[in-house]
Amino acid sequence: MKREAKDGLCEETLDPEDWGKMRALGHRMLDDMLTYLQNIRSEPSGAPTQKAIEEICVPLTQEGEGEEKVYQVFKQSILPYTLPITRPRFWGVVGGTGSPYGMLTEMLRTGMNGAQETFFAEAYVHKQVINWIKEMLGFPKEAGGVLVSGGSEANFTGLAVARNAKADVDMKAKGVQGLTRRMALYCSDETHHCLERSVEILGLGNEALRWIPTDDNCRIRLEALKKAIEDDRKRNNHPFCVIGCAGTVNSGAFDDLNALADLAKKENMWFHVDGAFGAWVKISKTHRHLADGMERADSLAVDLHKWMYMPYSIGCTLVKDRLAHYSTFVYGHEAKYLKSSLDKLEDQTTDPHNLALPLSRNFTSLKAYMLLRAYGKNKYSNLIQQNIDQINYLTELIRKEPEMEITAPVVSNVVCFRYKPKGLTEPELEKLNEKICSELNQRSFWMISDTTIKGKYMLRACCVNHRSKKQDFDFLVNIVKKAGEKYSLR
Ligand SMILES: Cc1ncc(COP(=O)(O)O)c(C=O)c1O
Repeated sequence: MKREAKDGLCEETLDPEDWGKMRALGHRMLDDMLTYLQNIRSEPSGAPTQKAIEEICVPLTQEGEGEEKVYQVFKQSILPYTLPITRPRFWGVVGGTGSPYGMLTEMLRTGMNGAQETFFAEAYVHKQVINWIKEMLGFPKEAGGVLVSGGSEANFTGLAVARNAKADVDMKAKGVQGLTRRMALYCSDETHHCLERSVEILGLGNEALRWIPTDDNCRIRLEALKKAIEDDRKRNNHPFCVIGCAGTVNSGAFDDLNALADLAKKENMWFHVDGAFGAWVKISKTHRHLADGMERADSLAVDLHKWMYMPYSIGCTLVKDRLAHYSTFVYGHEAKYLKSSLDKLEDQTTDPHNLALPLSRNFTSLKAYMLLRAYGKNKYSNLIQQNIDQINYLTELIRKEPEMEITAPVVSNVVCFRYKPKGLTEPELEKLNEKICSELNQRSFWMISDTTIKGKYMLRACCVNHRSKKQDFDFLVNIVKKAGEKYSLR
């Protein structure tokens, strides 16, 4: 409602006129969402109906429809038709589940309208979270870091520092236009496509990225990598960065990170590790060795919204050379309107607005801070271990099935498999498994997903889900079997 002051100056505001009514609505929203999460196992999900789409896609009104009405639209036409990522049987792609306490921390963050992490308490919270992440991942204390929006941005940030630190020219002043040699980076052919995107956005061109073949365990072939570097040197190109995978998206494979660190050192190259979800094996009880050598990376990209179950979006880039990180992103040289406040800062190299693209930040560290502090290291360590054990359990179930096979080495929290009755050709198997995947997706979208490794189509389950139980994996094998039998008969 429009309000007018006596002197004629409007006093329009978004604060409610009736705080009691807003409080009641807020309590209802909270109750509804907690009930939703409490009953998440039986909550229906599916693609939006025509009615829901019509309810969502409406013209914007002049006068607004009111908080209550719009909340009803959310409840009836949006929420039931959203990605079922919170469900216990969501093992497609790499889908983090969030948590009730995580949801509440987000309410606090937006309530105070978190907008920065450089001043006041926010600065300490951000720094503390970075310190905890370094400690959990075994990264040296002296390293710096910044929270970002997720794995893609975390990788982008690491590669941006790598490019600027290793370029022959002053990258900030001259940019790629000043380069006299072509810069080249190396990664395995199982590396996530966001790395390629980063290379493109960084102006290096995707031809600069050398995709090195992997062995039967989906790990980068070291001899092929060495040869590619040698070839580039012969052509007077500039090999500047080796990218290692700590958990590939397809199969959860880990490169030999120590070997990559040795090679990068010998060749005077930057060593970047994409540990988006896989880095967290470091806090498991049985699989931490997979990440050996990760602590030797010059930069490490991880996220916390997948395998650390935090609400989207939150990722982190850790960088050893704090000055190189700071000089890549420092903003102060042009921020005249910020001068008076920035001058008061003691250490600008730890201030997040100097370490990533955004100046305004949404105080994303608050959720990480509260969640890590509330649950402690053991809880996360147990959950990570639980997911690894669950994937091992699922693998054993699949192995016991005569008409199913494991199609890639199972090393962490991902299993790739397919339904394989006797007598079918490869193209027939592909078709059959595509149908199985589609049937499962119709039941619940991305219960599992599919992928192709070394030219072979396969089904894929990745567990970063703290709600899954043993019965869910029994269910999965049964439903794949049933769908497989159904489509094999046709
Ligand atoms: C290995 C790996 N790297 C990077 C990414 C991209 O991360 P995000 O989706 O958080 O941007 C993913 C996403 O699944 C991933 O699995």
